[in-house]
Amino acid sequence: MSKLWGGRFTKQTNHLVDEYTASIGFDQALAEEDIQGSLAHVTMLGKCGILPLEDVEKIKEGLNTVLGKIRDGEIEFSVSDEDIHMNIEKNLIQEIGPVGGKLHTGRSRNDQVATDMHLYLRKRVVELTGMLHTLQHALVTQARDNLDTIVPGYTHLQRAQPILFAHHLMAYVSMFQRDIERLMDSYKRINVLPLGAGALAGTTFPIDRHYVAEQLQFDRVYENSLDAVSDRDFIVEFLSHASIIMMHLSRLSEELVLWSSTEFGFVELDDAFCTGSSIMPQKKNPDVPELVRGKTGRVYGNLIGLLTVLKSLPLAYNKDMQEDKEGMFDTVATLEGALQLFAPMITTMKVNKGRMRDAVNKDFSNATDIADFLVGKGLPFRQAHEVIGKTVLYCIQNSKYLLDLSMDEFKQFSPLFDDSIYGVLQPETVVDARNVYGGTATDQVVNAIKRGEVLLNMTEQWLGEHE
Ligand code: ARG
Repeated sequence: MSKLWGGRFTKQTNHLVDEYTASIGFDQALAEEDIQGSLAHVTMLGKCGILPLEDVEKIKEGLNTVLGKIRDGEIEFSVSDEDIHMNIEKNLIQEIGPVGGKLHTGRSRNDQVATDMHLYLRKRVVELTGMLHTLQHALVTQARDNLDTIVPGYTHLQRAQPILFAHHLMAYVSMFQRDIERLMDSYKRINVLPLGAGALAGTTFPIDRHYVAEQLQFDRVYENSLDAVSDRDFIVEFLSHASIIMMHLSRLSEELVLWSSTEFGFVELDDAFCTGSSIMPQKKNPDVPELVRGKTGRVYGNLIGLLTVLKSLPLAYNKDMQEDKEGMFDTVATLEGALQLFAPMITTMKVNKGRMRDAVNKDFSNATDIADFLVGKGLPFRQAHEVIGKTVLYCIQNSKYLLDLSMDEFKQFSPLFDDSIYGVLQPETVVDARNVYGGTATDQVVNAIKRGEVLLNMTEQWLGEHE
């Protein structure tokens, strides 16, 4: 059979043109969505009296047969049929004869492909939300197990103030919560039906777009036919949300790489999530977080790629827009690949509480608290800061930590010191002193975990409603 659009042409397409313009190599990933959309479309054509019901039945049966064959790998897609839409239509016609040619009534590939993309991304956004939720769950569980684990908190990657390790983990729960909320919000703009826009202007057939939307469970239909076929904002938005998710994962990855180094020794990743070296027998490498960190680049690239494809594109459909697919598929695969590994990697990670505690004991991260102590005794904060700066310098010069100083030594720096300073300087006291909403005090982190669990439940409910 020749091209579905061959009528106007007097020559065969150059085979290099076929290969260059074809998208079947990658858009076959849309086969399920394409058939799902076609089934709704043809049902509507029957309901609106545009096609006789017996034709509709034949076409639906044919589509289901083609779907079954695709699932069984029985269909060989052809480059000369360009894309998944025409490959399916061609196979449908082969299956049921010329009546198959009636499927495309009142429809264009332009509104068809846009519909497929909406259906595809709608599913992926729910899937990814579920995976982020699983990761949050793993982090909350580790946080609960580490309510008594004190670790240095850093700024400038220099020890700053001691914090609960649980508090550190819960920061990531908040970050992934924003990611989940962004995905949920984007769902509203993904769940809009373009079909019925035709090539660009609508169609002369008396179709019912809302009936198609209802069958496919879209909340709305596009308001403007030109916009319906030209809009790829929902993909740009997805890629941008994906970029932020990868950025978050890359920050956590970097911390895992640092923490699992001998220098830190704060955590040990499970053997099942690490790899070895072909030459150095002692090595256990954190390849997974390293690769997640590295793969963040390709997701950013996909975002910039699509923004650039769309820049200055005139309305309505342009073939340039076929370039929206590979970056999107690649981003979905990259994100899913990372998230799938991250949750079990966090769950199985061993936290070395002793190493963390040793690190806290051997630092000056309680210095702010002595300054606050002096402020409590009436000294202005700036002066207190100066006094403690000198005290710390003295410690460094004498190879001591603040808790090693005798009362006489403390008194050298300020007469305001008294014995209660030794209690103030204990890491537990330092942590629990930060008893503000959102702070690292144990009570606050316990509450934060409870609030985290409420959010987890809310996401679960949303997932249940969007299956
Ligand atoms: N394969 C095309 C794409 O992905 C489908 C739409 C083609 N429409 C057209 N008029 N050439 O964008």
